[in-house]
Amino acid sequence: MNILTSKEKRQAVNCLTRCHCEEKMHAVAEYVDRLVCSGCGVAYAPEPLHTVCAKCGKPLLVSYRWEALRERFRPDQLAGQVRSLWRYAALLPVPFAASRTLGEGWTPLLPQPRLGRALGLPKLYVKDESLNPGGSFKARGLAVAVAAAALRGVRHVGVASAGNAAGALALYAARMGLQATIFLPEATPEPAVWECQMAGAEVHRVPGTIAEAGAAFEAYRQEHPDIFSMATLREPYRLEGKKTMGYELFEQLGGRLPDVILYPTGGGTGLIGMWKAFEEMETLGWIGAERPRMVAVQAAGCAPIVRAFHEGQNTAPFWVNAQTIAAGLRVPKALGDFLILRALRESGGTAVAVEDTEMLQAMRRWAQTEGLLAAPEGAATLAALIRLRETGWVHPNETVVLFNTATAHKYPDVLHQALRL
Ligand SMILES: Cc1ncc(COP(=O)(O)O)c(C=O)c1O
Repeated sequence: MNILTSKEKRQAVNCLTRCHCEEKMHAVAEYVDRLVCSGCGVAYAPEPLHTVCAKCGKPLLVSYRWEALRERFRPDQLAGQVRSLWRYAALLPVPFAASRTLGEGWTPLLPQPRLGRALGLPKLYVKDESLNPGGSFKARGLAVAVAAAALRGVRHVGVASAGNAAGALALYAARMGLQATIFLPEATPEPAVWECQMAGAEVHRVPGTIAEAGAAFEAYRQEHPDIFSMATLREPYRLEGKKTMGYELFEQLGGRLPDVILYPTGGGTGLIGMWKAFEEMETLGWIGAERPRMVAVQAAGCAPIVRAFHEGQNTAPFWVNAQTIAAGLRVPKALGDFLILRALRESGGTAVAVEDTEMLQAMRRWAQTEGLLAAPEGAATLAALIRLRETGWVHPNETVVLFNTATAHKYPDVLHQALRL
């Protein structure tokens, strides 16, 4: 199945590169300007399809035509827009018409009154990403990135993943009629493996962590060069999908940002994406220089960012022998480590590592107090908040947002463990 006719494809690609057609559905991608290296600042035209910076190997970030956007894209125009992340299509690299959406994004921002009372935080919220297609926030990045790749002629996509990104990739590849090849650590929770297989992806399971799965994927790609890698920050467009979480927070809080955001951090695209969104909002004139304090939450058994943050380092060395029940946090080395650390420091934020038992307790407490079935990664943010309230780092009058990044249903073994506590 071909997702677009060749005429549609030509038209959409033209639009991406500076179209002057009258049709709104195509004009939205007109605002993409160029890609800029996050390491050395070298700029690239948006076409053809890019991976990382050819000069220094660092991730590329999408830059838009801000002058034009400032005039034509304002928060008061968002009311009544589609209830998915495509309400921000003007700030995305893919026209909505070419998206083949599954309804990703525009997840609820839920007040947490009972938990908030117990923690002395009347303005506590959870951004519940479990309601995304496939049950995790990974849908955001892959909805955008798979569409962007398909528009540029890619027919076969692949990734090494802790599980949720693989599932999302498989679903969007199926939706767009692309082939998908996936490499997963052996210990990946079964529902993520089944999700990939259900969607028709070819699945390889590899002993070790995502680091070993990534190495096996790269070796495989040597023999299968038609596979385009969707690995975290190795192409520029997953981040664009993820940044919409930042725009949604702004809209859902009535046109302002929270004081504190706690985010479960593995490869860091969610945190880096939101940080990019806030910078964009300032460029657009939506906000001033104020920023939420960003908190990266990791597992004590795999906390490279937490260690680097507290040691004052600008990059995070590889974490040896990574172990945690939170599969999405079992990321020993992040390509965007310097971007995560920069966002934490510039925001006046911090980094917290929590034990697996604290995640299990938090899963149970969250379900019992607010009816939220959080994944262990999401529960890690609640465990971290409990710590930060104890130390007084978070103040009672502050607006605080926890991120539940996936549904607990994708982790049946962990759910059982939480029940047996
Ligand atoms: C449920 C869940 N939460 C958080 C993360 C970490 O995400 P990020 O790469 O944005 O740091 C992952 C990554 O796999 C995940 O699956």
